[in-house]
Amino acid sequence: MIEIENLEKSYGPAVAVERLSLRIETGDAFGFIGPNGAGKTTTIKILATLLEPSAGTVLINGYCAVEEPEKVREVLGYMPDHFGVYDGMRVWEYLDFFAAAYRKPRGQRLGLVADVLELTDMTPRRNDFVDALSVGLKQRLCLAKTLIHDPSVLVLDEPASGLDPRARIEFRELMKELTRLGKTLFVSSHILPELADFCNKIGIIEGGRLLEFGEVDEVTARVESASYRVVNVRVIGEPAAAREILQACPQLANVREQNGRRRSDGTSQLQAEFSGTLDDMPALVDRLVAEKVRLVGFWEEKTDLEDVFMKITRGGVGGGAHDDGPGLMK
Ligand SMILES: Nc1ncnc2c1ncn2[C@@H]1O[C@H](COP(=O)(O)OP(=O)(O)OP(=O)(O)O)[C@@H](O)[C@H]1O
Ligand SMILES: [Mg+2]
Repeated sequence: MIEIENLEKSYGPAVAVERLSLRIETGDAFGFIGPNGAGKTTTIKILATLLEPSAGTVLINGYCAVEEPEKVREVLGYMPDHFGVYDGMRVWEYLDFFAAAYRKPRGQRLGLVADVLELTDMTPRRNDFVDALSVGLKQRLCLAKTLIHDPSVLVLDEPASGLDPRARIEFRELMKELTRLGKTLFVSSHILPELADFCNKIGIIEGGRLLEFGEVDEVTARVESASYRVVNVRVIGEPAAAREILQACPQLANVREQNGRRRSDGTSQLQAEFSGTLDDMPALVDRLVAEKVRLVGFWEEKTDLEDVFMKITRGGVGGGAHDDGPGLMK
């Protein structure tokens, strides 16, 4: 549904997007993640036919974003990161205006407006003035506007920024609903956990380069095997004996006690960074048991997307190109 090949965008001498290639299938929910200045908005504006690439191709549903922008706009709904609303206009009028801009016949427009209001839970606000809405409600209205021509691809640039925690949860539910309706989603964010709930694929971009791309589980697994795993060991009583064994193991580093002291149930928990493979783990358990450690728990800490992000990106704020390869790409 979305095919990007060797996409490049420079602003003068500054390279904002560098040889970006990725493929999103129909029905995918893709999370496009990166720090400030990574190149997310630049890429998204090119998809939305609002910016011309310096090189490379972008096809949406088989249509070229540069050659056939009208065709692309028919199937694509774009929600910008910043948007203006008009003074003195009511919510339903605003949506009706965009339905008219998409050349929807007058007879259909009220029905379309009612549908998107319902989908975004904005029906009770239909007669409110748009300039008087709160930031979160404006955001929701903008999403409603993006859906008005029933596009099959939705490209949303940080749609959840500025939302309160409850609104974020509602936003994720709405994204899931859109996926159920068969839409293809391309959603940018800085915040990984926000996307983990509804995305099946993620891409991580930094300094204009795509550092990782793939199924969520696949990317997580690749990052785990390319770095270290975090293991937890829980024992009855004092952790000293277990700590000694763990510290002597060359595959373990940074052995630390969790929660500082003994827990109320009389157990202690240690955590360490494990650089071995999954197959090496049972031997570690065997050693603890052989040394008569009173082991009650041994488990691997689940790496969440936040950890993946921190391990992959290098913390520069945008612009700077990487001097070497990302090292984690397939
Ligand atoms: N119109 C412009 N002129 C010159 N440089 C630009 C322009 N727009 C973006 N850039 C630069 O391109 C790079 C990528 O910017 P972009 O807005 O795509 O990043 P982003 O990932 O969307 O960041 P953020 O998370 O802050 O929104 C940045 O270094 C930025 O300064
Ligand atoms: Mg941006």
